[in-house]
Amino acid sequence: MKQPTTTTAANPAGPVPAALSIRGLTKRYADGTLALEDLDLEIPAGSFFGLLGPNGAGKTTLIGAVCNLIRLSGGEISVFGQPGGTMAARRMIGIAEQEPNLDKFLTVYETLLYHGGYYGMDGAEASERAEQMIDAFDLRAKRDVEAPKLSGGMRRRLLLARALLHRPRLVILDEPTAGVDLELRHELWRYIRALHEQGTTILLTTHYLEEAEALCDEIALISGGHIVARDSAEGLKQSYGVETLEEVYLRTVAGGRIAINQLEEVE
Ligand SMILES: Nc1ncnc2c1ncn2[C@@H]1O[C@H](COP(=O)(O)OP(=O)(O)OP(=O)(O)O)[C@@H](O)[C@H]1O
Ligand SMILES: [Mg+2]
Repeated sequence: MKQPTTTTAANPAGPVPAALSIRGLTKRYADGTLALEDLDLEIPAGSFFGLLGPNGAGKTTLIGAVCNLIRLSGGEISVFGQPGGTMAARRMIGIAEQEPNLDKFLTVYETLLYHGGYYGMDGAEASERAEQMIDAFDLRAKRDVEAPKLSGGMRRRLLLARALLHRPRLVILDEPTAGVDLELRHELWRYIRALHEQGTTILLTTHYLEEAEALCDEIALISGGHIVARDSAEGLKQSYGVETLEEVYLRTVAGGRIAINQLEEVE
């Protein structure tokens, strides 16, 4: 996989607003589930930020709110100072969603091309950028193949290529390495790291704690729709007086939700 060639210009006009600023975010789904409650979170521009928490903690809901994919029940979001939900905010975000949501009738090339068009690129620019991303993500042999005919790992690569195509300043990756083989995971890490070094802000969710520790300069732990801790991996370990991030995780957010005894009784 080739390393990214894009650059994100620093703001010469002085302090850059936070990449993401969330105030009092509440989300109650139509069935009454309270997924997020009065949540505050600020992610500085340029950071590599990890959001960790168990299944159902609210990570994907938070991301959906930031990307305007779900309606907020309360609260405010801004992206580099632009109000969440506006096209200006949306264009600064690139998202690779947890569930690969690729159009099954589009080829790899078309998926990327149309995405460019949707984000305001003209045909020639979108096409050139699509071809670049195809090479960067090693999808050349599958350029004219529809998404359902790709392997799972290739679909992940395409999702990431699409997320990055319009050169977003904030890249949100919801479990990008779930189900991805070791080699590809390391390639993705290298790619995302290089992107971050060029100035892109990254928000990553993952269940691989070693991944978060290796990549992120700050980590927030979320549980039951609340942020329960936030610091660097080192800072978290120190605060809880433990040796590993896993121990921090177990102390803060793991809830023992599945009773093994009960499962055995059912059998
Ligand atoms: N469309 C929906 N309608 C009702 N409840 C929902 C909906 N989507 C998510 N939820 C609920 O909101 C809560 C948070 O879910 P969310 O998907 O944000 O968790 P998550 O932290 O991303 O978990 P995972 O690690 O499993 O991806 C869960 O209780 C979930 O069942
Ligand atoms: Mg999720």
